[in-house]
Amino acid sequence: MCGWFDEKRRWVCGEPTDVFLWMTFLKPQFSALKLPATSLSYGHFHPEIKLSKKHFNHSTMATFNITVNGKKQRVEADSDTPLLWVLRDNLGLYGTKYGCGIAECGSCTIHYNGNPMRSCAMSISDVGEAAITTIEGLSENINHPVLQAWREHDVPQCGYCQAGQIMTAAALLAETPNPDDEEIEAAMYSNICRCGTYNKIMAAVKTAAGK
Ligand code: FES
Ligand code: FES
Repeated sequence: MCGWFDEKRRWVCGEPTDVFLWMTFLKPQFSALKLPATSLSYGHFHPEIKLSKKHFNHSTMATFNITVNGKKQRVEADSDTPLLWVLRDNLGLYGTKYGCGIAECGSCTIHYNGNPMRSCAMSISDVGEAAITTIEGLSENINHPVLQAWREHDVPQCGYCQAGQIMTAAALLAETPNPDDEEIEAAMYSNICRCGTYNKIMAAVKTAAGK
């Protein structure tokens, strides 16, 4: 087996052979996305290898005051608990999804002070006073232009990756209201969709642009 889940349900790749197998699995998908070959390298996985070592250190329970979707939240957690698990397990915000656990797939994307961020790769102790926004907090009446465009283009298939796709697209349009194709591809390329909804995502982002 090329990996295992640790007690925080992070996917741990600790051996070079594990990483090689993952590269073999992911490479066709990266090729389809026309990503640069350097996107897949041992170095790309290295932070997770360090993370797996960190897991064996003893962490300590602590209280954290964080702001999620405009609300102050008080949570008890180990200091190295990924924000993703705090959102899902402590706060019941299940819209943010776990995919790879190593900051590669984008399914766990949230906004950190308005910037797209992989919540699987951020510890609760690193959140500080930042404003965290999840898919549940993107708009009060589910009328965000990106959500409307996603509906209009009927983007999701299985839907698993879509919260991350939407959060990435929303951050892009907040920063660049009328992106060209290259800017959309550059912003969205690292959000993986196993169902291959990329063409619909491109169309939906264009529809949402400028609204
Ligand atoms: S689960 Fe965080 S990037 Fe894949
Ligand atoms: S819609 Fe199924 S993984 Fe993207």
